Amino acid sequence: MEPLVMGGMVLAGLAATLPLARQRLELSMAKHPSLTGHSRMAKRLARWVPGYAYDAERFFAADDAPPEVRENRRVAFAVLAAELNARHARSIALTQQARAQIPDLQFTGAYRVPFQFSPYLRQHLSVGAFVQRTDGVCVEDLDGQRLIDLTGCYGVNVFGHDFYKSCIAEGSARVAELGAVLGSYHPVVASNVAELCRLSGQDAVSFHMSGTEAVMQAVRLARYHTRRKVLVRFSGAYHGWWEDVQPGPGNPLPPGNTYTLKEMDGDTLRVLRKRRDIACVLVNPLQALHPNRAAPSDSALLDSSRHAKFDRAAYTAWLQQLRQVCSERGIALIFDEVFMGFRLAPGGAQEYFGVRADMVTYGKTLGGGLPVGVVCGQARWMKRFREERPADICFARGTFNSHPYVMGAMQVFLERLRSAPVQALYQDLDARWDGRARQLNEQLAAQGLPVRVANLSTIWTVTYTLPSRYNWMFQFYLRREGLALSWVGTGRLIFSLDFSDADFEAVSQRFLAAARAMQRDGWWWQAPGASNKEIRRGLLREMLREMKR
Ligand SMILES: Cc1ncc(COP(=O)(O)O)c(C=O)c1O
Repeated sequence: MEPLVMGGMVLAGLAATLPLARQRLELSMAKHPSLTGHSRMAKRLARWVPGYAYDAERFFAADDAPPEVRENRRVAFAVLAAELNARHARSIALTQQARAQIPDLQFTGAYRVPFQFSPYLRQHLSVGAFVQRTDGVCVEDLDGQRLIDLTGCYGVNVFGHDFYKSCIAEGSARVAELGAVLGSYHPVVASNVAELCRLSGQDAVSFHMSGTEAVMQAVRLARYHTRRKVLVRFSGAYHGWWEDVQPGPGNPLPPGNTYTLKEMDGDTLRVLRKRRDIACVLVNPLQALHPNRAAPSDSALLDSSRHAKFDRAAYTAWLQQLRQVCSERGIALIFDEVFMGFRLAPGGAQEYFGVRADMVTYGKTLGGGLPVGVVCGQARWMKRFREERPADICFARGTFNSHPYVMGAMQVFLERLRSAPVQALYQDLDARWDGRARQLNEQLAAQGLPVRVANLSTIWTVTYTLPSRYNWMFQFYLRREGLALSWVGTGRLIFSLDFSDADFEAVSQRFLAAARAMQRDGWWWQAPGASNKEIRRGLLREMLREMKR
């Protein structure tokens, strides 16, 4: 072949591939540099991490603390464990009895703390999983121990335990004559739909049985109406446990039609502006507290680099930019308010940030204490068939959708939401909770304690100011002071809006007492020149050594 002809062909080939290469490059640039932005790599790494555990020596000396500090810790741990084990004996006994048959319990029990510490800890200190009563902001276990409840019931508990008890009782009474009829609707369904459309500013509603299912349905509708495949989620954001929204560790399948991109970043906007394969963008407003980071959990508290800070103006600007690019490109903007819905404002994150989504998912609290998932959306996105192509449908069913008892509890929930006492809880909500966080941080600083809190309204996370390998111990000191946390420990404290000043003062005092005790017991001892980076390097060396064994 003539050299000139060959050259021309190469150039033509380059021209054809360049836009593709550029698109790939732009996609890579829109990924967060951390592992949360690289699902495949994170999964590969997760398979590589060797399992090993610290023995009775190393458990107290992972930071190579001197002998007197280790001894101090050892004695303190024995006292703490004995106290907690005795105080919660019945709850612990039932937990141990049930554990072998409840994999969920095995999992949450094992992942309360970093895995190296977990076996020794579990051998000596147990946490009961069973409770029997709630009363105000407290939960009571089988031993009659009352703890202030900061678990938030995975986010369900926005208005206090008594609120949900009464939603369930009253809602059940409203539908009792019908019972568990499915397929046909109890009239409460119509009133819930009307109220949800009003609240969300959307045209139509579908009911599901969990938040995960609501997200699945919203994404499916977006794909159906755009005829595009890809969903965009942001690094670290949780949207339930369905495959496409959990492409990283935790899901055995490789990522499918999902792009995990950087949140609050121009590179992501560029990708949204240019690509033609994107059906929808999923936003979890909770990420505003820690953009691009996974939900903080004490099992990942290897050092003190946990960071969180909420900037309302910056996040509002980000959502506005997303809104604009999605409108321009025909991409469905989906707010996943399963967690945050009704916590920031009666109209949810849409109202709070002043941005309207194409579809919104709700769940958790909206069921008035019963299980639910809801999609509210514009009519054009919600329709499940095409008149002009009757066989081309978007299928979604679910046996228990619109269950009368759930709908009854939801109706009471929505009525109460409009009541004066509940509306009053939203008055100065941010000022109240930001003030409480500030006040606690001031006290922590004044007492020289290396702990702080960061918050997005009533969702709090605990951060640590000194490099340490033992911050995860703090959850057990908090428990001793009578504060109940979920299995993610100090990663997430969830308050219900009904905490009075006196309730909060009790939390503050207990929190400070726990931090003082933890400091006194030597867990925050510092080696000269200690840094988070050095801790991580040390851990890497340790893992490499373990792999060679
Ligand atoms: C933002 C968000 N979306 C979806 C889900 C999934 O909801 P469910 O656990 O009801 O399936 C959750 C659960 O925590 C969530 O926080």
